[in-house]
Amino acid sequence: MSKPIFGQRIIHLESVDSTNNYAAKVFKSGQAPPGTVILADIQNNGRGQREKTWQSDAFQNLTFSLTADIKLWKINSLIDLNRLIAISLFRFFKQLNLSPKIKWPNDIMISDKKICGILIENYFRDGSPKTIIGIGINVNQKTFDVPRATSLIKETRKQIAPRDLLDKYIHVLNDTFLSLPIHDSERIHNEYDQLLWKLETPHQFKGVHGNSFEGLIQGTSLTGELKVYNGTNITNYRNGEVSY
Ligand code: BTN
Repeated sequence: MSKPIFGQRIIHLESVDSTNNYAAKVFKSGQAPPGTVILADIQNNGRGQREKTWQSDAFQNLTFSLTADIKLWKINSLIDLNRLIAISLFRFFKQLNLSPKIKWPNDIMISDKKICGILIENYFRDGSPKTIIGIGINVNQKTFDVPRATSLIKETRKQIAPRDLLDKYIHVLNDTFLSLPIHDSERIHNEYDQLLWKLETPHQFKGVHGNSFEGLIQGTSLTGELKVYNGTNITNYRNGEVSY
């Protein structure tokens, strides 16, 4: 087995504003090589996609960030990296005997509810992207301020120590990066598309202007847009252009 990519270095903080902010700081200053994991028991200002907050009760869940360098790892694009991370999380929940799906672009759903969110942020150094991958997994929290949320304890009735869960995930993550041809965009794209939530299933969508319509997800485009068939034609939506 080749050397694992992630988790050679783990920084465990009790409390931080956001592990993504902390990871960016230590990555930029050279203190965290690519593949470092930064985990916090308490996040005071966890951030979600599109400027939303990520609420997570202290010590109950898994909130962590990974540092990544696609150029170093010869991954073709940031979209491939996004997809690889979503696939690794799919495999992780599957190993826990659950039935996960990937809600485009990269939420993980179980029983039609969100159990895990991913916030990927990039900055550029010497023309090449450096990436912070933030992952929030609901573990032992039972109630949520947002609708359509779930946690491992709600799905399995079992309490699990978040730190043990992180070790399991890092194992699956390394396995995913070593077992999938990570330089083969087409393979990654195909695998990702097959795991999509509501793939080829009639579902209600809402456009940016509040217009509702029924459609069928056909997969994603080469550049990562969601392809939706509305009975007449297929439209490609970018992140934020459609909700469902
Ligand atoms: C989303 O679904 O909106 C993305 C949520 C991402 C939350 C994680 S928790 C660890 C990392 N640090 C943050 O501030 N956000 C991400």
